[in-house]
This record gives sequence, C-alpha cells and structure tokens, in this order.
Amino acid sequence: MNKLTVNDLNVKDQRVLVRVDYNVPMEEKDGRMIINDATRIKETLPTLRLLIGKGAKIILAAHLGRPKGKREPTMSLRPVAGELSKMLGRRVAFVEDCIGGKVEKAVAALQAGDVLLLENVRYYKEEEANDPGFAAKLAAVADVYVNDAFGSAHRAHASTEGAPRLIAQRGGLCAAGLLMERELKYLGQELENPARPFVVILGGAKVSDKIKVIDRLLEKADTILIGGAMVYTFKLAQGFKIGKSLSEPDKVDLARAALEKAKARGVQFLLPVDDVIGTPVDTGKLNKKGKAVIEIQNPRTNTQANIPNDAAGLDIGPETSQRFAAIILQARTIMWNGPMGMFEDARFAAGTNAVAQAVAYATAKGAKSIIGGGDSVKALNQAGLGDKVTFMSTGGGASLEFLEGQVLPGVAALSNK
Ligand code: 3PG
Ligand code: MG
Repeated sequence: MNKLTVNDLNVKDQRVLVRVDYNVPMEEKDGRMIINDATRIKETLPTLRLLIGKGAKIILAAHLGRPKGKREPTMSLRPVAGELSKMLGRRVAFVEDCIGGKVEKAVAALQAGDVLLLENVRYYKEEEANDPGFAAKLAAVADVYVNDAFGSAHRAHASTEGAPRLIAQRGGLCAAGLLMERELKYLGQELENPARPFVVILGGAKVSDKIKVIDRLLEKADTILIGGAMVYTFKLAQGFKIGKSLSEPDKVDLARAALEKAKARGVQFLLPVDDVIGTPVDTGKLNKKGKAVIEIQNPRTNTQANIPNDAAGLDIGPETSQRFAAIILQARTIMWNGPMGMFEDARFAAGTNAVAQAVAYATAKGAKSIIGGGDSVKALNQAGLGDKVTFMSTGGGASLEFLEGQVLPGVAALSNK
C-alpha cells in the first residue's frame, strides 16, 4: 500500500484524531441502549493499543446511525465509550459534543496514552455535507489524523475527508489504521493475483447492488456462484417464469450482459438449478410502519426451471447447495459477498449455511477466504463460523464500492508514503 500507516508515525504527546467506524447495531432494552455486536469496536483495538504504546493523545470520532443533524438520544455514542473501556481495560473519556469548547477542554486535559471518544459527528448535518467550517473545527484539536474506519471510507464526509485534507494542508500526517490496512490488503492486493481456482460467491437481493462487482470480478474469477433474490433477475434474462420472486425487471439487460461477458471470458457462471420456494400470503395485518405483513407459507423445494405463479424463490435448493459446496471445496481463493437466501428465517437458511460450511472447510484445507462484509458476515457468525475464515470485512457499502474498483474518499485523503 502506498499510504502511510500508524506504524510509520512518531506521535509521542501528539493529539491524534482517529476516525473509527463504531456504527454498531444497537437495541433498546429497559430504556437503555444495548450493543448487539461489538465486532467493529473490537477490530480497532490493535490500532488503539499501538497508539497508546506510542504515547499519543487519542481523540476518537465516529458516527452512529443516521440522525440527520438532530441530537437523537438513541444514537448517542456514550454506550460505546463504556464498551470500549471494558475491552481496552482502561478509562475512555466521553464528551457530549464533537466540536467546540467542551471538546477543546477535554482534549487539553489528555495525557500521553489517554483515550477520548467524541459524541456522534452526525448530530451535525455539516458532517455529511462535508462542510469546510465544520471540518476545520474537527481538525482544530488534532496534530495528526488516523483513519481506521474502513466501513465509512466510501463517504466523503467532514470526519473522513474534509478534516484529513485540512490537517494535511497544514503539514500534519494522515495515516491508515491497522484495520484499514488489513481491509485494503484482503479486499485489494489479495484479490489482484489470487491463487486458482478463484471462486466468487455473490448473493443478496439486487442485481443493481452487485452488477459492478460482478463485472469487475468477471475479469479475475474462474467461477462465479450466484444466489439470493438477484438470481430471479438473471432467470428473467434467460426467459424463465419467476412467480412472485423479488426481481428487478429493469435490470434484465444488465443481467444478460453479465451472462454474455462470462461466456466470452470463459468464466463458469452458475445460477441455482433448484430453489426453496414459499407462498407469500397477506395476513391483513399492518406492521409498526403501516406496511402489510406478508407471511410465507408452505416452504418447499422446486426442481423446475420455472417458479409457480403463486410462489416466490427464497433460498437455493439442496441440489444447488451440494454443487456449490463441491466447487467451493476445490477453491484456493474464495470471495463471498451476500447470502444465498432469506437466512434470517430458519426455513430459508439452509443454502446460506451450506455455503458458510463449505467456505469454512475449504479454509481449513488451506484456501484463503475473504468475506465482503454486511449480511454474509452476519450469516457466518449466526452459523458459528466467524473465526473459520481468513478475513471478514467490517465494511458493507464500503467493501462493495472498493471491490467495484472505486477510489474511496477516506483512503484518498490519507498521506502517501
Ligand atoms: C455502515 O454501517 O455501512 C457504515 O458505518 C456507513 O454508514 P452509512 O451507510 O450510514 O453512511
Ligand atoms: Mg450502510
């Protein structure tokens, strides 16, 4: 990587503004916000420990949720300060703002090795607008900048892009954290010249979300396995009937172009040969948001190419699971992004679990497996296999944009070596 990393920094007694992605899933319990998954916090510990060891004064900036410029109490980062303190085994100070007098005071009190977490930067709408005045206030308390928030690096916001640009302009160094470095290594360099066979597994609901990734990986992969509801847009492109399955009829041309590109390049591009389908039934009830509650009834395997008119495809079928698993077991490099079906519902989780198992086995046999964030990470953890793969990204949208080959603004803003 041609970017400076925290390893290159000499930051004794320096004020280091560290952007982290602490946008963790939370839930209200007895009037308190509870963290459901602290992975993103845990993954920043190596960077923080390194900076503490170097004697830096650490100022952490992060966002939580999308409060759109309002002080939404359920989106406060205060509970994160408590969790981080437990994990680090040392005090983490918290300040109820991210700019201004209170922050300046808290920063002035920091000693070498101290850690301070700022309140949600998105309590100001200027954050997402990348407002230069706001960025200047964030930058004002720091000598050096570190970005360890890979999951937010696709956003050109004040804390990810504006502030480092200003710090660099005045001669301050801007470096990648260790998590950022690992993410760029596994999702970047490792996939440039993969050991073969290189098998790519792509799932999820929409072709439109994944088409650019498909297009790019068609240049590298030996085999691409497709699951999830996006299968049905490909099936439309092939002229099959898809019943009530989710699809994007306006993306059929893109799907067809991908199929043709795969053929032209000699990439094995596999769609499911069977599915688990169900019958969506309107319960007549409305959910909290006023939307009709649809229940899926009569889950069953469909071995026909067409889906019956009253049914929707919700998972890859058992025959497909076996075929996919066999291919995954032969792979030496695996990239997986997106579940094979509606895995949150146990009736439609078998396909995703089969893929998760196969990826874990292949890894145990020596393959390198890279999981591109979001729901596939959730599925692996749900199957208890999170520690059985080579690398799991902490990014969702960021991993996708990076895999598409886009330059991430949060990375571009960092100093070159
Ligand atoms: C994420 O969870 O995807 C990142 O933290 C970015 O959040 P955002 O999609 O609200 O910008
Ligand atoms: Mg997102």
